[in-house]
Amino acid sequence: MVRFRALNVIVAGFFLLQTIFLLVIYSRNTVLPDAETKTEKVHLLILSSWRSGSSFIGQIFSQHPDVFYLMEPAWHVWMSMFQNNAKTLHMAVRDLIRSVFLCDMSVFDAYIPKRMNVSELFQWSVSRALCSYPACSHFNREDITNETVCKVVCGRNSFSKIEESCNTYSHIVLKEVRFFDLKVLYPLLTDPSLNLKIIHLVRDPRAVAKSREQAMKALTRDNGIVLNTNGTKVDDVRYDVLREVCRSHVQMYETAMDKAPSFLKGRYMLVRYEDVVRDPLREINQMYEFSNLKLTAKLKSWIYNITHGVGPGSKKEAFKTTSRNAANVSQAWRKDLSFQKIQKIQNICKGAMNLLGYQFIDSEKEQKDMSMDFVLPRRHYQFSWLPNNDKK
Ligand SMILES: *[C@@H]1O[C@H](CO)[C@@H](O)[C@H](O)[C@H]1NC(C)=O
Ligand SMILES: *[C@@H]1O[C@H](CO)[C@@H](O)[C@H](O)[C@H]1NC(C)=O
Ligand SMILES: *[C@@H]1O[C@H](CO)[C@@H](O)[C@H](O)[C@H]1NC(C)=O
Ligand SMILES: *[C@@H]1O[C@H](CO)[C@@H](O)[C@H](O)[C@H]1NC(C)=O
Ligand SMILES: *[C@@H]1O[C@H](CO)[C@@H](O)[C@H](O)[C@H]1NC(C)=O
Repeated sequence: MVRFRALNVIVAGFFLLQTIFLLVIYSRNTVLPDAETKTEKVHLLILSSWRSGSSFIGQIFSQHPDVFYLMEPAWHVWMSMFQNNAKTLHMAVRDLIRSVFLCDMSVFDAYIPKRMNVSELFQWSVSRALCSYPACSHFNREDITNETVCKVVCGRNSFSKIEESCNTYSHIVLKEVRFFDLKVLYPLLTDPSLNLKIIHLVRDPRAVAKSREQAMKALTRDNGIVLNTNGTKVDDVRYDVLREVCRSHVQMYETAMDKAPSFLKGRYMLVRYEDVVRDPLREINQMYEFSNLKLTAKLKSWIYNITHGVGPGSKKEAFKTTSRNAANVSQAWRKDLSFQKIQKIQNICKGAMNLLGYQFIDSEKEQKDMSMDFVLPRRHYQFSWLPNNDKK
């Protein structure tokens, strides 16, 4: 009798557990496959061009503990097929970033045949995720990582760690300078397995030109691909590449703002580098909000430090693009470029400058007068297209 009652209790308990289990499963299923919240992950593309501050913005995302970040994964595509042109390579670049967003790193098969070590991936050490668990045990996930240290300590870890690490993050962020047409990305925007958002980062073409001049040698291979030279490296002394870059900014911005298909709504945000430099916290807050990321106290302190030259190593390293007086540095081109060059660039990039709020300098006197500001205030333009904006 006693044994029988005990058995009853066990059976009843079992049924209760099973009921709870089924309820949990059921409630999950009714929440999950919703057409609108297609995936809970966020796939963010920082779409920019060479020397436009995108490494700095990339770091702002990379150091966030919820973000798996890679800088220029499509570098491998371009370097493997350098006799092609940017347009021909668009599709290969797009397919590569799609796979990387889905954490499928087998896509590198064509470009990095053996895939042994993490260090074979271009610029891997700028990714905080690849310097911390589970890719590397040296840093904690919440640490602000140091590229120099990471390079030494984490480079020999297995390439497969990249995929393993990627799978543990809610936000995948990629930075690319190798797109020249927003329409190429449409299939990714409508892809149900992705939740793609785009931050389009632009910078004053005159500042870009000065920075490109300083990095001339490093850009010759890419220049050849942009200008379709069948593998011949070129210096961009005539600003033909810059012309192409400016043209693409106009194309992307106009496509997103005027001719935008509905699937682009809430998924495109334009950011001017100058605005970030002048008010980093405000701009970074908006970019984070757009990407569903929270600004932590630690990140806030770190951002303050790197934009004010405070804290360890910030004077020397500071991502090369920012420093104690980042706002000041962003005007350096006015001292370094000749007025003739400035006129030439203004002429070549007239359309982009008008559209993005960069004013022309009309004389050497204006160029030298540092009390004059040639970047129109952001509020005069409807730049950002934040999630709730209902513009048709
Ligand atoms: C990968 O790391 C191993 C040591 O773990 C080293 O012997 C090898 O040279 C590395 N390969 C590459 C391509 O860096
Ligand atoms: C491109 O260059 C390669 C050699 O580097 C040559 O074989 C090929 O014919 C060239 N193609 C064109 C279209 O000029
Ligand atoms: C910012 O700098 C201060 C002063 O050097 C330092 O105490 C603090 O830890 C730094 N913050 C971060 C997040 O690195
Ligand atoms: C990174 O570490 C190196 C070597 O320890 C150091 O010299 C450098 O200042 C550090 N950089 C930052 C930004 O902390
Ligand atoms: C940057 O600021 C310093 C003084 O703070 C000034 O001497 C210098 O001319 C400024 N540079 C530019 C490009 O504005």
